[in-house]
Amino acid sequence: MNRENEVVISHIRQEFSIGDKTLEVLKDINLELQGGSFVSVVGQSGCGKSTLLRIIAGLDIPTGGEVRIGGNPVQSVSPDVGILFQESRLLPWYNVEKNIAYGIQEKKNRKEIRDTVYELIELVGLKGFEKALPEQLSGGMQKRVAIARTLAARPKVLLLDEPFGALDAFTKMNMQEEILKLWKKEGITMMLVTHDIDEAIYLGEHVVVMSPKPGVIKRSFRIELTSDRSRTSAEFDRYRKEIFAEFFEDQTMVPEYQI
Ligand SMILES: Nc1ncnc2c1ncn2[C@@H]1O[C@H](COP(=O)(O)OP(=O)(O)O)[C@@H](O)[C@H]1O
Ligand SMILES: [Mg+2]
Repeated sequence: MNRENEVVISHIRQEFSIGDKTLEVLKDINLELQGGSFVSVVGQSGCGKSTLLRIIAGLDIPTGGEVRIGGNPVQSVSPDVGILFQESRLLPWYNVEKNIAYGIQEKKNRKEIRDTVYELIELVGLKGFEKALPEQLSGGMQKRVAIARTLAARPKVLLLDEPFGALDAFTKMNMQEEILKLWKKEGITMMLVTHDIDEAIYLGEHVVVMSPKPGVIKRSFRIELTSDRSRTSAEFDRYRKEIFAEFFEDQTMVPEYQI
């Protein structure tokens, strides 16, 4: 266990004002991620998953509560926390190398940048595509570039906000393998938000189920799969059924936009 990478979320509340109304988006969220662990979060649209990730990343300040990373309170954006979105958000006029180096340009000298970019290109399997522009790459390859760019800052924590939602099924499975490999190799603490229950079980050591209005943690599952993580095994199916049941139990399919 690595204390430096530990994420402790305590009593997080988030409220937004819309006109004269207050929208309670997150209510008393408590969660501990051990250093180097992998936690998946599932929950219906609008239950505050992205809001929670933004708070952990220091992009938003919560109404109440605190997030600590390696014991230090999160107060603003920091290179310790990387975040990956559904859209790859690459710069279209920069090639692969330049996109990866984009965030570290001011912090390192030229040799350090070159070495980091080279290492990351190897890591994400893009050798030979260093000079390609984003438009010349498939969706999966663009995703690899986005992952490499995020890793360039050497984050302790990687937040993934439905990162594979726009990919086709096979590319998605491929990327899931890549993320698993990276996680095992780099020892980064991972928090994955997804609407795909299979993905949550396949990747997470824990699956946290959130429910909306206000966003709360409903239940947390510890996933213990035998080493091969087979998606077709009986134990996988057992988790799938249990989580589905949790998800739809209270059928709070209230319209997302209703305040
Ligand atoms: N900056 C904001 N101002 C007002 N409301 C917001 C803001 N950000 C998110 N919300 C609202 O918070 C709720 C949760 O949003 P979000 O965290 O994006 O949910 P999820 O990622 O689970 O789909 C939604 O109702 C959304 O409209
Ligand atoms: Mg979201």
